[in-house]
This record gives sequence, C-alpha cells and structure tokens, in this order.
Amino acid sequence: MTLPEPGVPRRILIVGCSDGIGLGTARRLLGDGWQVVGISRSRGPLQHAAYHHEILDVGLPGYRQKLAEIVTQKGPFDTCLYCAGIGEPSDLASLDADVGTFQVNLMAAVETAAEIIPRMVQDARGHFAVLSSQADELIVPTHPSYAASKAAMSSYFEALALAARPSGVRVTNIRFGYVDTKMAKARVRPFQRSVDWAVAIVVRSLDGKAIRVTRPRRLAPLVSLLRWLVNWRIRLS
Ligand SMILES: NC(=O)c1ccc[n+]([C@@H]2O[C@H](COP(=O)([O-])OP(=O)(O)OC[C@H]3O[C@@H](n4cnc5c(N)ncnc54)[C@H](OP(=O)(O)O)[C@@H]3O)[C@@H](O)[C@H]2O)c1
Repeated sequence: MTLPEPGVPRRILIVGCSDGIGLGTARRLLGDGWQVVGISRSRGPLQHAAYHHEILDVGLPGYRQKLAEIVTQKGPFDTCLYCAGIGEPSDLASLDADVGTFQVNLMAAVETAAEIIPRMVQDARGHFAVLSSQADELIVPTHPSYAASKAAMSSYFEALALAARPSGVRVTNIRFGYVDTKMAKARVRPFQRSVDWAVAIVVRSLDGKAIRVTRPRRLAPLVSLLRWLVNWRIRLS
C-alpha cells in the first residue's frame, strides 16, 4: 500500500528534477499537494513551498553517501522516481562518455534503489519507479551505452519488482519512446510525444500496480523491426 495516512501529504524523491519529464512530474505533483524533494546537478526553475532541491551529481563518487544523508534528513519517502539520464554518442577514441552513461543511467539508479527500497520494505509500503526506454530492446551502434544501460535497467528493475511484490513495495519500469525534451536528439523521432503526455503516464503509473509500462504502444512494432534488422546485420557479419 503506497498511500500514507489520510491527511498526510504524499512525499516523493525525484532524481533528475531540473528539466524534462522529472521537472514536469514535480510540477504536476506539487499542484496535486505532494511534497517533493528533487536532485540534479542544476537547481532548475522550480520554486514552491513544498519543494526542496539538492544539487548533486549522481555520477560522482560519494553519491550514495550524500543520498543517505538526504533520505535521513528529508525522508521518509513513500515514492521515489528515478529520471536522471544521459545519452551521448560513443567516441571510440576514449569511451569515457560510455562509462559516464552507465554510471548515471544504471549504477546510480541501483544505488538509489539500494538506499530507498530496504527502508520501504521495512515500512511494508512504497513505490519506486524508474524511467527506462523502449531502446532497451535495441543494439544501437551510434549510442551503444544508452541502449545497453536501459536494457540492464529494465531487466534489473522488473526482476526487483517481482522480488519486492510480497513485501508490499511496488517497483515500476516506465519505457517511453521519444518525448520532446532536450534528450531526444535523433533527427527522425517517430510518434514523439509531449512532456505533458509523459507526465500524465508517470503520474498514473505512480497510482497503479503495473511492473512494466510501455508507451506509446504504437512504437513497439517499429522497435521490434529495428531489433530484427540489427540482429540480421550481426548474423551476416
Ligand atoms: N526524452 C526522451 O525521448 C526519452 C525517451 C525514453 C526515455 N527517456 C528517459 O527519461 C529520463 C528523463 O529524460 P528527459 O527526456 O526528461 O531528459 P532531460 O530533459 O535531459 O532531463 C534529464 C534530467 O536528469 C538530470 N541529470 C542528468 N545527469 C545527471 C547527473 N549526473 N546527476 C544528477 N542529475 C542528472 C538532469 O539535470 P541536470 O542536468 O541539472 O543534472 C535533468 O533534470 C531519462 O532517463 C531518459 O533516458 C527519455
């Protein structure tokens, strides 16, 4: 059960809250009476009495320790939404960007879960949601670390969702296609949706029981075709 006692505002930690889907979700939940704590490297535009921001880079060593301090001081949280994500093209001359992508998209999400979920299990309630991507099904030569980090994220959090279910804690993996934020840089973005559309799905998911949320559904056949094409290319090589 995620809902706190009647009359107590719901309290969410949003990691990746200065822009895009995280910022939109924070705005919407503040409007609905939630208390929100946000984490990101920049402060972002949010100003609200029920909003607290922590400037923090989840990709740097020490993230978990700083997060533990935030949770102790500002928690407990009945909900956590992990939105932080990056997706830069690979550079074969260094691959440093790939290390950073795995750190932000995957390892910091796991560190966040490790800090939050055991506390939720102790309370026998809570909801931990992550923003993955329909790219988790793909092998993408231009952005190998983005798709691979999302594949691992989806696999890990969906397994965790099944494991956590008996404890009363819910885990949800939200897999979007293209959403109109600064992250969506591809020249062609089929079925791209607005941030408001994505926020509505996130907010609905936070009240739901689904382990996997894939939207827009119409993109899925195209993703399957792309996966088939790249597998065919790999087999031929
Ligand atoms: N937009 C899409 O088409 C799309 C599609 C599928 C999935 N997604 C996923 O949805 C999530 C949100 O994406 P978005 O489109 O909203 O992207 P966005 O507009 O670029 O927002 C990303 C957020 O993550 C934060 N962030 C990035 N690196 C960080 C770091 N090292 N430490 C702390 N915070 C960090 C950013 O804040 P700072 O820069 O201030 O740190 C920002 O608040 C991502 O995980 C993305 O993979 C997006």
